[in-house]
Amino acid sequence: MITVHTISELREHVRNARSNGRRIGFVPTMGNLHEGHISLIERSLAEDCFTVSSIFVNPLQFNDQSDLARYPRTLPADQEKLAAAGCDLLFAPDVNEMYPNGQDAQSIVHVPVVSEGLCGGSRPGHFDGVSTVVSKLFNQVLPDIAFFGEKDFQQVAVIRKMVNDLCMPVEIVPVATKRADDGLALSSRNGYLNADERALAPGLYLTLTEIAADFKAGKDLAVSLKEAAERLQQRGFRPDYLEIRRSSDLATATLGDHSVVVLAAAFLGSARLIDNLQVTLN
Ligand code: PAJ
Repeated sequence: MITVHTISELREHVRNARSNGRRIGFVPTMGNLHEGHISLIERSLAEDCFTVSSIFVNPLQFNDQSDLARYPRTLPADQEKLAAAGCDLLFAPDVNEMYPNGQDAQSIVHVPVVSEGLCGGSRPGHFDGVSTVVSKLFNQVLPDIAFFGEKDFQQVAVIRKMVNDLCMPVEIVPVATKRADDGLALSSRNGYLNADERALAPGLYLTLTEIAADFKAGKDLAVSLKEAAERLQQRGFRPDYLEIRRSSDLATATLGDHSVVVLAAAFLGSARLIDNLQVTLN
């Protein structure tokens, strides 16, 4: 695997691959890679794409500066994991390469409605930072297909709408969430959990499965969510949000909907964990 740090080197390698008739698959990340990220790489390789990954801890999407400062940076280990998975090219720019005119002078891509509420409500400006950096990365890499994890369900919805609204010529492929054996969704933020917290952490997914069962049983949504929030607290979490939305557009769900997603964010110690579970009625 080749690692490049500049846009011009990236473009040269991508141009060569394309002139050899390859389709370009792209997996954007912020590094500290785990099996969830690697499953996106594997999916791109399974599509027979020349596979490009990026590692860039994007300051524009962090509304909390201490969160940005402590975000793990593990480039050498990440390079090994990507190479072992068969990734073709890693783009690891520094902040000056991505924001040469400074962040404050950066044009912003704002995706309305789907970016509001949920993580957008708790982390003001977060999705503007995500949609802006992803559109820049798309213009740098020019991928045919880009792969995103359903773990960040709202992020996929934001990127899909951005691509659709702005006619970006890239196909967005969602990839199922990779979980530990006990149900915990793999996440770079799991590294912030101590041993006691790690033992409690599957309680988030457990709570989502209970809400999904309530929904299937036709239980009143408000009652189900209120009881679930209480259980989540008893399980050691400080809930941030717990909601049921329509899968298609993240609009508020009602009992008549057939395809919904239960979404949650909750603090466990200093870690803010997110997860979601899709429910489809027959
Ligand atoms: P990051 O959190 O590093 O995630 C990179 C990609 O890996 C995202 O598409 C995310 O949804 C996916 N991912 C994370 N955990 C996963 C899991 N357990 N199973 C499957 N996929 C998983 O998301 C970002 O970075 C950034 O916002 C980014 C899109 C790179 C823009 O900066």
